[in-house]
Amino acid sequence: MRASKELFERACRVIPGGVNSPVRAFRAVGGAPVFMIRGHGARLTTADGAELVDFCGSWGPLILGHAHPEVVEAAARALADGATFGASTPGEVELAEALCRMAPLEMVRLVSSGTEAVMTALRLARGFTGRAKILKFDGGYHGHSDALLVSAGSGLLTHGIADSAGVTPGTAADTLSVPYNDLEAARKAAALNARELAAIIVEPVAGNMGLVPPDPGFLAGLRALADETGALLIFDEVITGFRFGPTTYGRLCGVTPDLTTLGKIIGGGLPLAAVGGRADIMRKLAPLGPVYQAGTLSGNPVAVAAGLATLRILERTDPYLALERLGAMLADGLAGVAAGLRTPFHCARLGGVFTPFFCPAPVRNLAQAKAADTRLYAAFFHGMLERGFYLPPSQFEAAFISTAHTETDVAAFLDAARQCLEQACGLSTELV
Ligand SMILES: Cc1ncc(COP(=O)(O)O)c(C=O)c1O
Repeated sequence: MRASKELFERACRVIPGGVNSPVRAFRAVGGAPVFMIRGHGARLTTADGAELVDFCGSWGPLILGHAHPEVVEAAARALADGATFGASTPGEVELAEALCRMAPLEMVRLVSSGTEAVMTALRLARGFTGRAKILKFDGGYHGHSDALLVSAGSGLLTHGIADSAGVTPGTAADTLSVPYNDLEAARKAAALNARELAAIIVEPVAGNMGLVPPDPGFLAGLRALADETGALLIFDEVITGFRFGPTTYGRLCGVTPDLTTLGKIIGGGLPLAAVGGRADIMRKLAPLGPVYQAGTLSGNPVAVAAGLATLRILERTDPYLALERLGAMLADGLAGVAAGLRTPFHCARLGGVFTPFFCPAPVRNLAQAKAADTRLYAAFFHGMLERGFYLPPSQFEAAFISTAHTETDVAAFLDAARQCLEQACGLSTELV
């Protein structure tokens, strides 16, 4: 870890906290962050020369693993033809057509980050409805635009920041937040603000307080609530889009939102995201309509090429059953190991996405996620890192299996997990 430590010391002198995104700083698990120099398939090489099996997956984009040859070739070819033109390219049209067909969406606009996509979706919802307020769910993370840094998950949760400084009271006042999976609370909040509610925004499967799947009927209930109040329903699928099938989670679960935001996977690991949905709403965007949105690098040709290559591979190979099998092997295996040790433990999982929680029952909302033993998670994280497995360095994030992982990787993960949990449980007794 010497090289990583030295790099981190240098980084801290010139970058706030030594990182360009807070959760990378390892504050939730302690210790100094590991610097990465290479990724191939399911494996990372650190600046210290260690090889790690990667279950963080850059927080979600890498469903095909690192440096998939077809994605690399497509991006390299695009880069060789010019990095950016600030003008339209054929690839943008192809990617937009692919997203509209696969998601499905009536129209789509490409942007560069999930934050931008959600910011645009909210502005659209406000422009379309003429209303100001939005309803979100505690522990939901929708990027770092002002209106959404209220009771947010991901890095804010990791760092214990309930609401960011620098967000004006006026902005925060337009954001309502209620517990995830609590339809009754959503109904009450909507009833109190019915005529002012522009949008209900939700991660259809929450991924930023650890993985928390929706209760049966929750998403359909939100659809009905949006219809009753005249608010738009926005599914933030920056994590879930193309993660559980070659489409959106909305399509898989049979609930159609008015707008969908996508990111991560659709850029194949490069900065690309999208907002799309009903054409009558999307037509409000400039230059057709009065809602402004723009970006120098929006629809960047290199990112578009990587995204298109990724979507084509997912459509051609349909790896979702294999991901489901590996996910089940991993989560069931972990539960078995923990049961043998009599540790309160529950591994949340959907397809190839999972979060180990040190608590006795499935987590349904933020309060329950926060009640899990985060010290045990930190001990588990470090134990796994020592044994060559890289998990998200925070309890409040989802871990990802890619198509590059094998049964052998998962079996090795479970072996290491057994050793770590034995150690971690020892730690738990000491801490009591
Ligand atoms: C559900 C969700 N929405 C939006 C975002 C923001 O995306 P980005 O980090 O690309 O700005 C994230 C990031 O993790 C996310 O998980």
